Amino acid sequence: MRRAIIEGIGGWLPPRVVTNDELAARLDTSDEWIRTRTGIRARHVVSDGMLTSQLAVQAGAKALKSAGTDDVDMVVLATTTPDRPCPATAPEVARQLGLTGRPAFDVMAVCTGFLYALATASGLVAAGTADRVLVVGAEAFSTIVDPGDRSAAAVFGDGAGALLLRAGDDGEPGAVGPVTLGSDGALTDLITVRAGGVEERTRPRPMDDADRYFAMRGREVFGHAVTRMTQAALTAVDQAGWRPEDVDRLVGHQANLRILHAVADQLDLPHDRLVIHLDQVGNTAAASIPLALWHANATGRLRPGDRVALTAFGGGATWGATTLTWPALTTV
Ligand code: UT7
Repeated sequence: MRRAIIEGIGGWLPPRVVTNDELAARLDTSDEWIRTRTGIRARHVVSDGMLTSQLAVQAGAKALKSAGTDDVDMVVLATTTPDRPCPATAPEVARQLGLTGRPAFDVMAVCTGFLYALATASGLVAAGTADRVLVVGAEAFSTIVDPGDRSAAAVFGDGAGALLLRAGDDGEPGAVGPVTLGSDGALTDLITVRAGGVEERTRPRPMDDADRYFAMRGREVFGHAVTRMTQAALTAVDQAGWRPEDVDRLVGHQANLRILHAVADQLDLPHDRLVIHLDQVGNTAAASIPLALWHANATGRLRPGDRVALTAFGGGATWGATTLTWPALTTV
């Protein structure tokens, strides 16, 4: 059966690093609180004038180089922080990568965005609509975080990760397994930027300045994240014909170390099977899973033949998971 196979990987982090101590110097927080409540030690943030498209281009170019090709016929970008509300950012990413003329579009499912984009791209490859698709998750998330919000400022960071998919066969290493996805619009208010859309424009009274920033009901999100990431992972593992204990590496959305530990516990997986990247980069929303994969591939945490499960929860609310056997990929 025709399937999408991962053949290239790339990641890019903006050079500016913000440590917990630097945050604690301007906000009522501490390195100790952030480390023990989240597992995060530092995050990368964009400099003035840097755009999500630029992060995506850097990661995308590396994924193409890793695969040794520039023959791409579609670009799918997962982001919560597009350069502009309109149009989509993906066509500009495609242009900067020398791919003008190819179809390019954005997918928005916040922290589940990359898995939604991967499902879309791998489905289009499997259907024969495309032979080679670049899937990017990129976020300049710090630009929508209220600088005075100690909870969000501690958690979120910026960056981009990318996978290049090609058409191949079912049994090949790197074949993207069936993707399970879900959503619950009743939870819209748990993770939101209220202003900037039609809701604001058709409203008789202006919204507050606070409504222009990202708002999250963290404790409630935490509970839903553990439940949904666990359930989605179980579904994906079952669809692959695996048992949970067959998973060599669990790559969960890098929201919070305590969430990842809780998901592993519910799946009865030892914590050393978790891929952890959030300590260095925080929660990079739609970029988090491809960045974690990129880092794990580069450092040898992921090795060819590893059975990998990916799982995420994000705004919407949205969730999803998939499985694959890790292929041999060059890190550039
Ligand atoms: O990306 C999509 C998925 N996102 C997630 O899954 C995020 C899930 N949520 C979380 O990771 C956690 O809820 C947070 C890390 C965001 C917050 O941690 P928490 O342990 O749930 O804290 P909380 O929001 O329940 O707040 C507990 C206390 C509060 O103080 P009071 O009201 O008890 O006095 C907060 O004001 O901790 C306080 N607090 C902080 N204190 C020091 C919140 N953030 C900070 C901070 N430094 N950075």
